[in-house]
Amino acid sequence: MTELDYEKEPVYPEFNVYPPRWNFDNERAWQLYRRAKREQWDEEEIDWNRVREIASGLDRKQRLAIAYWWSLLSNFDNATPVFAHAVIKAFEHHLDTAVRGILTTITYDENRHNMVCGLAIDSMMRGFPFNFKPQDDLERKAMLNVMWTWYNGSRYWKAYLEAYRKYTLDVLFTSFMMGEAAATTVFTTMSRGSKIEEFSKAFKNTAVDETRHYAFTHLIMTQNAPRMAEEQKSLVTKQVRAGFVFLSLITYKPPKEFWKLPPWFESVNERMEDLARDSGFYIPEIKEKEEAWRSAMIRVGATLARFGIKMPAVPEIGVTGEEVQVTEEDFVPIF
Ligand SMILES: [Fe+2]
Ligand SMILES: [Fe+2]
Repeated sequence: MTELDYEKEPVYPEFNVYPPRWNFDNERAWQLYRRAKREQWDEEEIDWNRVREIASGLDRKQRLAIAYWWSLLSNFDNATPVFAHAVIKAFEHHLDTAVRGILTTITYDENRHNMVCGLAIDSMMRGFPFNFKPQDDLERKAMLNVMWTWYNGSRYWKAYLEAYRKYTLDVLFTSFMMGEAAATTVFTTMSRGSKIEEFSKAFKNTAVDETRHYAFTHLIMTQNAPRMAEEQKSLVTKQVRAGFVFLSLITYKPPKEFWKLPPWFESVNERMEDLARDSGFYIPEIKEKEEAWRSAMIRVGATLARFGIKMPAVPEIGVTGEEVQVTEEDFVPIF
């Protein structure tokens, strides 16, 4: 062991959260951090008793369909650990104080979104899916759809942790962009369409958070992209495609890439969506979903173009661009 020379300043190990350090420049990041604090809301202020009351007026299949939808959503809003991990990395890399601060608020936001999923499921169909007794084949398949979606979530989590070894933090955080853009659109549309007022409120508040998360990725992008090498830029292109592939399960239909799902997934999913719609729970129709993706792509594409980053081809919705293949190892997107 080398002797420590106490007469000198210590040499800190690389990639360590120590020493604590603060910087008060990066005004744009500080503004966003302040906005995040201002825009906090409480999921327990949603009147869940009212939701339970509404649920009691629905039939079993409708309640199941709504719980089913929230369960699928929770695959993407299980993002607390995703951002908690990002917080640790941001401290290890000594990113700007305000940037670290924003990441802590996103961690809290995502935990709130996850709580909303849980409360919504609990209000509609307590115990779904693990303590649920299917009464027919449709119910059984719906339950399995959820469980297999979550299984894919576990594959995503492994890839996500690995990604930190392959990508720089700016590329990683920029990768969140497509997810946040898609989330903003989804929640805004759903809040407008929902006839169940409490859900409408939850979606509206969530959209406020996701809009801010998008602003965060935008900030990281504009502050870091000018310094990105070509190779990093092409990784971003790939991640935009990965964002589409991952989030399309809930926002469109799951592409063949990445997803490992039961053969009945889509047909059962469509029946569940229709049942939910019949009960006043608004889910956009396929045309509207395509339109939402296209506008999210245009938004992201416009920013990327400013920094010479190409958009990927997304033939599913008629978007042309770079042909990219994403595999399991590539996944970073987040909601
Ligand atoms: Fe979220
Ligand atoms: Fe988000």
